Formats: sequence, C-alpha cells, structure tokens
Amino acid sequence: MHADLVVVANRLPVDRITMPDGTPGWRTSPGGLVTALEPVLRANDGVWIGWPGGTDQDLQPFEADGLRLVPMTMTAEEIEEFYEGFSNATLWPLYHDLVAKPEFHREWWDAYQRVNRRFAERCAEVASEGGTVWVQDYQLQLVPAMLRELRPDLRIGFYLHIPFPPAELFQQLPWRRQLLEGLLGADLVGFQLPGAAQNFIRLVRQRVGHKTHRDLVYLPDGRTVRATAYPISIDYAGFEELARSEAVTQRAKEIREALGNPEKIFLGCDRLDYTKGIYARLRAYGELLSEGELDVEQAVFVQVAVPSREQVEQYKILRDEIDRLVGRLNGDLGTIGRPAISYMHSSYPREEMAALYRAADVMVVTPYRDGMNLVAKEYVACRLDDDGALVLSEFAGAAEELRQAWLVNPYDLNGMKAALLEASRATPKEISRRMKAMRRTVSTNDVNAWASSFLHDLAEAGTAHDKTVRS
Ligand code: F6P
Repeated sequence: MHADLVVVANRLPVDRITMPDGTPGWRTSPGGLVTALEPVLRANDGVWIGWPGGTDQDLQPFEADGLRLVPMTMTAEEIEEFYEGFSNATLWPLYHDLVAKPEFHREWWDAYQRVNRRFAERCAEVASEGGTVWVQDYQLQLVPAMLRELRPDLRIGFYLHIPFPPAELFQQLPWRRQLLEGLLGADLVGFQLPGAAQNFIRLVRQRVGHKTHRDLVYLPDGRTVRATAYPISIDYAGFEELARSEAVTQRAKEIREALGNPEKIFLGCDRLDYTKGIYARLRAYGELLSEGELDVEQAVFVQVAVPSREQVEQYKILRDEIDRLVGRLNGDLGTIGRPAISYMHSSYPREEMAALYRAADVMVVTPYRDGMNLVAKEYVACRLDDDGALVLSEFAGAAEELRQAWLVNPYDLNGMKAALLEASRATPKEISRRMKAMRRTVSTNDVNAWASSFLHDLAEAGTAHDKTVRS
C-alpha cells in the first residue's frame, strides 16, 4: 500500500476483538483521536498506520469500511513497556499536570525508542515520493526525526492530542532533550492550545539551544519548524445528522423511558481515566442528593465509563474506587427502580452515544486536565433544538471555545455542586441562549476546518531560512 497522505497513530481506528462465537472481528477504537481523524482520512484517501490492539503478528494491510489500514504488530513485552509503561505511565501523567505520579524506567524508554523506530520505518515504506506523513500524539514523538533521516523528501507534520506541559514539569523527564529533538524532525508541530505551543518553543530554546522567534524554531541545518495551536474538533454535520435520524430520536425516547422518565438526566461519558474527574463529579452529585437539593425520584446521573488501559495500575485502582463509590451512592441514596447513578462500564457505538446525548438534560464534563475533550463538542452538535446544558471544566481545552458552558473548577467540590444545580434549574431561555452560541462555534470550527488549516500550513511550512544560527 502506498499513499500521498499517511496518517500514523499508535492505534488504528479499529481494534481487533474476539466475537462471542470465538471468531475475530473489528470494533471502533476508543478516544477522541479516532473520532476526529477518521473523517479526515476518508476525505483525503489516505492510509492509516497503527496498532490494532493485541499481539497478532500476521496481519496484512487491509480495507475496512472504506479506510485503507496498515496494521503494526506489538509483542506482549512492547505492550507492557512501550504502551502501558512509557506512553501511559510516564508521559500521560507527566503531560496531564501530574494528576498521577509519572514513573521513569530506563527499559521503558528503550522500548519507546524501538517501537517509534519501527513505526518510522513503516511510514518510510508506505509514503509516496514527496508525500505527506502526519504523525499523531504522544506515543510517537520520536517518529518525525527518525522518519526525516530515512526519507528527507517527505513533508512531516506532528499533532499532539493531549496537553503539552509547562517547562517546570516537562524537565523532570530524564529524556527531555531526545523527545524535543524527535518532534523537531517535523516541519509543523501542532498543539491543542497556544499555551502548549509556547511551552514547547520555550523548552526548545532552553533545553536544545535553538534560536526561536514567535512560533518558529530555526535549526542549525537551515530548516525551520513551526509550532502552532490548531484546536481539534468533530464532524459536526455528521453528528447532527446522526442525532436527527429516526433511529436515534426513537432510541433517545426509549432511554428516557427506561430511566423512568425523570425530570432531569445528567450524563457523563468518558474513558475510565483518572484525568477525567469522574470520582469527584459523582461525589458532588451524591452530596446534592443527600442534602435534598436533588431527588432520585426526579433526577438520575448516567455515567458511561469506557474501559481503557486496564492493565495499568493507576487505572485498576481508579476502577475499584469508582465501583465502590457508585455502589455506596446507590446503596445509600437509591430506591427500588430509582438508582442514584446509572453506571455502565462499557463502550458504545456512535448511534447509542448520540441517543444518550439527545436524552440528557445536563452534560457533565469535568476533567482535571484534558487536551480538548470532544465529548463536550459532540453533545453540542447533537442538541438540535438548542436545549441541553453543558457543565464543563475550565481545564479542558474545549473551555477556551465553549465559553457559554457552565464552567467549573473540578477541584472545587462546592463550586461543582453549585454549577450542577444552576445548570439543571436554568430557564429554557437561558439554556437556549448558551447552546445556540456554542453550536455556532462548533459548526464553524469543525474537524474539516481543523484538518484543512493544519494540512494547508504543513504544505507551506518547512521552507529553508537564511538566519545565522548557533549550532
Ligand atoms: O487522545 C489521547 C489518546 O491517548 C489517543 O492517542 C488514543 O487513541 C486515545 O486517547 C485512547 O487511548 P488508548 O489508545 O490508550 O486506548
């Protein structure tokens, strides 16, 4: 398989699974990266390189649902050291404000380098002469430089889907300079927010010693690298159309009925991740019930927690904590047929998510730190009648655009309780005023706008400069 546009991400957009009858099958992978990039790949007829989950060694390039996919293999040891280890127990917490403590292990770093090299080699095989490779996310930060060495003819872009931390945190990393140099192999490095791009530029100046000016880095070999923010988004029209369909409209009604037609449905949908603030949000809701501000006869909190990184210790701990909290809240506050929390530890297809968004009166998105959070944007896209209230953490990238949400500090339990009440008691007029504005924002800044502006800038980036720079 060859292509002018190659997207490379740790994961393929589909995961290899075993069906109940024992035969192998495919399922959409979790997370915002896939939601955002799938329509982009479709529109550009590109190839997607990534890992399909598991340890299968014999998978060949294939087409699924119109997408051209190139699977990468991973051994059990690489899954442990590269994926669960360096990617998700070192970089993930380090890049999310140390919400959990990052672990630094030299053998994990070795595995990270090895796997990044293999991904770079595969990109070098697949990309056409003079083509474009768009590298995704924190798992593959060394790929741009490794790929440039193999294929200097390529245009290389990198996009980070998660936050990029301030220098004060990043410099804890024993391999900080190597990671920065890895990213500098790209012509264009994209971030969710301008602050993240500035953090990167500052670190490059301090730790690698290159000259920088605004969003440009001047390399000693004459190349320039641009680092800029491109806030990611969703396929707004696609979600809206899905939400409008007869099947989803009907399913939303069924969901409300199944929940006992309560006056207010609160909804949270997240990967089960400690950055998402699920525990604190449910605690806040539980306190409102026990203080009599809300009543299980009239309100229910639906929490969907999508299983994620289940072998990583911190994720196991979180799952137990949430299981216990939900059990306690339902035991203490629920009545027959009226649980306080309707909790699902499962992943659902897009149609079911759209129906849940349509059924929910108050969407609660309260991460401690989040690159963007596309669930918030999906909710907005599905609210066809300009109703529905969004409670949103100030620390989600989406808060920079969705200013009309009820913005909260997820560390402030009382503030969160007040916002949940206010959002659930707001007048239809107030709710509609806010939702209309947010719908305008997301429909204008959709995923097509995001991808076109990144790919346009990438096509223009990387021209040689004539600055005298220190080496
Ligand atoms: O956006 C962050 C991210 O880690 C993506 O890179 C990833 O595809 C998604 O979340 C889901 O995580 P995982 O691939 O570890 O299940």
